[in-house]
Amino acid sequence: MNMGDFVNDQSLKQQGILKSIYSRRSVRAYAPTPVDDAELPLLLDAAVHAPTAMHEEPWAFVIVQDARLLQRLSEIAKPVFIEEVSRRGAHGNIRSLEHFSRADFNIFHGAGTLIIICARQQGSFAAADCWLAAENLMLAADAIGLGTCVIGSAVSALNAHKEELGMPFEYSVIAPIVVGVPGGETRATSRNKPVILSWKK
Ligand SMILES: Cc1cc2nc3c(=O)[nH]c(=O)nc-3n(C[C@H](O)[C@H](O)[C@H](O)COP(=O)(O)O)c2cc1C
Repeated sequence: MNMGDFVNDQSLKQQGILKSIYSRRSVRAYAPTPVDDAELPLLLDAAVHAPTAMHEEPWAFVIVQDARLLQRLSEIAKPVFIEEVSRRGAHGNIRSLEHFSRADFNIFHGAGTLIIICARQQGSFAAADCWLAAENLMLAADAIGLGTCVIGSAVSALNAHKEELGMPFEYSVIAPIVVGVPGGETRATSRNKPVILSWKK
């Protein structure tokens, strides 16, 4: 095999886990059809099969399917995120956040299900574990025809509403992920080629 043969092999990318790695998209338009509740345990089970440092399994999950609560949390989260970005002084980003000020913008993209991956506040690898779980969950969702999108912009607002979300104080929100039946095709975003700093043999 020559260098590049594997990475350019489109039929290989249709097989096994590679299929979902390459077909997953951040879906921002959902059909009104609700996710079948019976599918959620599979997503959570895939999530907890992620690697976990020192086998701590620091994750726990909150599922929100209450449309009014999601709408209210969206309204709370939008100004919180704008404020957060401006505090960081990321002015370029603020311009790209104009839609966050629009009344009709829903931070959860109108998805009917939000899964919040939370970490028990312990261990320096808890967040890493939860993000690995997040990717497992999103790939599993893709494999059964569901769309997902990480909603990092909602983290602070969700952390400020732990009690309402049924989260004990010692947990923190790491990865909010919306899940739903995609409302159409989502085009792939591009990626730069991997930067290989060195390859010592
Ligand atoms: C940590 C993290 C936070 C993100 N937060 C948001 C978000 O708040 N809203 C959103 O629509 N997408 C969010 N995304 C999705 C990214 O915008 C998306 O992954 C990126 O544009 C690449 O597109 P793709 O996932 O379709 O390949 C987030 C992704 C990550 C990894």
